[in-house]
Amino acid sequence: MKVNFLPSQPYNKPSFGTNAKTYYRNTLTNECFSKDYYSSCIPCKDSCEDDTQKTHASIINSNATWFFRSKPYDWLELCKFLNSKYKNSEPVNIYQFGCSDGSETYTIIMSLLEALHKDSEKYFPIQAYDIDPDIIEKARSKQVCCNLSDISSIDNNTQQGFSKYFSTIAKVTPTSYIASANDILKDKAVFKVKSFLEGLDDIKTKNNIIFCRNFWPYMKDEEAKECFIKMRNLEGNNLFIFGDFDYDMNFRYLYTKCGFEEIFDGVLKKNNLQATMYSDDEIRKMDYHGYFHS
Ligand SMILES: C[S@@+](CC[C@H](N)C(=O)[O-])C[C@H]1O[C@@H](n2cnc3c(N)ncnc32)[C@H](O)[C@@H]1O
Repeated sequence: MKVNFLPSQPYNKPSFGTNAKTYYRNTLTNECFSKDYYSSCIPCKDSCEDDTQKTHASIINSNATWFFRSKPYDWLELCKFLNSKYKNSEPVNIYQFGCSDGSETYTIIMSLLEALHKDSEKYFPIQAYDIDPDIIEKARSKQVCCNLSDISSIDNNTQQGFSKYFSTIAKVTPTSYIASANDILKDKAVFKVKSFLEGLDDIKTKNNIIFCRNFWPYMKDEEAKECFIKMRNLEGNNLFIFGDFDYDMNFRYLYTKCGFEEIFDGVLKKNNLQATMYSDDEIRKMDYHGYFHS
């Protein structure tokens, strides 16, 4: 049976952080199935796991996320860099797309607080979006799953500040906890359900910092190209932040041909070098192949 999979369908969805599930499509039969972080396969509603699926799987979507995920390799330096670009600007709007359970949202908030102290105030609240309503419900609970590596990366980036920012409320495995965000983090983000393509229409006219990390490979090629067309047609002083999972040769080619350059680790800015840029129509016709759609 064929399944028309959309991330928002009511499949058996992830709970917290590293319990997130990854959704796969069998490239031979087009059936979908999910697989949890610890590698046990769980059938989706209309399909079941078998060896063929494991062999011929292509990834569709995953909520997997963790604290202080690279790139950038130094989040505090990133915040100082961003602040240098918006030093005399106010207000500045931070949008974060593909926020998952909020681990990355809190990473941004903690990094701004640690790097900029009082000067961080103008960047809050962050508008955090994800296409998946179930993970947004988790994010709104302000509780996240922290494994030992999350806790140590929070401590390492915040002068041992894990307990300043979070309170652990339950141990879920020998190496992971459910942690509740403390008041210092709580009101600094608003979580909403929306795709990146739709959410780009919400962007205000100037001074926007847009985190769009680690979901590009899940988008259809046509959608990725439409996103870049909208991004470069935005007015104002905008920066876009990408993740480790987003970069490959084709992706670099796509953003260059759309008129963007990387000006800091993971940060793209429109460069307006018309000579190297394709028109909107040329972008649409461009032979761009993302990771999972060949
Ligand atoms: C692999 S997780 C990455 C989470 C986080 N940004 C990080 O880097 O750790 C990808 C998230 O993006 C969401 N997502 C997938 N496609 C999206 C889209 N087109 N627009 C917005 N979010 C999307 C998924 O639901 C998932 O929660």
